[in-house]
Amino acid sequence: MTTRRPTIGVFDSGFGGLTVLKELVSLIPNADYLYFGDTARLPYGSKSADTVARYAVSAAHLLEERGAELLVIACNTATALALDKIVAGSHVPVIGVVEPGANRASACSTVHKVVVIATEATVSSHAYLKALEARAVEAREKACPLLVPLVEEGWIEHPVTEQVARIYLGEAFADGFQSADVLVLGCTHYPLLKPLLHRVAPPHVTIVDSAESTARVVAERLSIEPVASSSAEERRTLPRHRFFATDSVEKFRRLGAMFMGHSVDDVQHVDLKE
Ligand code: DGL
Repeated sequence: MTTRRPTIGVFDSGFGGLTVLKELVSLIPNADYLYFGDTARLPYGSKSADTVARYAVSAAHLLEERGAELLVIACNTATALALDKIVAGSHVPVIGVVEPGANRASACSTVHKVVVIATEATVSSHAYLKALEARAVEAREKACPLLVPLVEEGWIEHPVTEQVARIYLGEAFADGFQSADVLVLGCTHYPLLKPLLHRVAPPHVTIVDSAESTARVVAERLSIEPVASSSAEERRTLPRHRFFATDSVEKFRRLGAMFMGHSVDDVQHVDLKE
């Protein structure tokens, strides 16, 4: 068990990675966090691999310069499209979200058949499919591009979002995948929709949240026991957070509070050098 307080850098295309930060903070409260949201360039989910890699590598550099000793690539799209390049360009350990999510999904699936929902870019990369096939699990990947804007609109429990999710999941859990028993949330925004997705997914399905799975891997990596039993007060006050955003600080505070469930204060505007 380490006693030193590590500084963990968390990178995302925008606000969604705050779902990963939230899980990290709840498992590893005795760390300091630097969060970088590339809000001026989001969404990454519709961009090419080269563009995403360029942005992600410069963001990783910024987090390292500011003192991150370990980088968590919270963005599924950036992990799927650019993890190799980020690792190659970094001097500190880097953890992405795809491998932890795939690992957990394979452990949870008894029929070895899972559905992954994600952005267009993540689905086109087949990063989850490859990671799951390597674990002898059959996967169906389904792009759900409407869910990110619906979440950012705050339509978490909204009939329109429910209808959209019903259509996406209806298409995904069909044609040989009716028996799939795991749904992987392969996008930072989807954990906010967990209650809705639980209602909409077939009842036999277990939801695997790659944010949660990644936080566990980071905790193991730091050899820190998960501290799920620490009091809510400790969890709120112990970690120090600093946020960097490439677009409006005001908007980051507003949407950040929705994702974190509490106010997001220390937000600084930064420019990304390319
Ligand atoms: N953070 C992205 C992901 O997890 C979703 C938002 C975006 O497309 O930039 O794939």
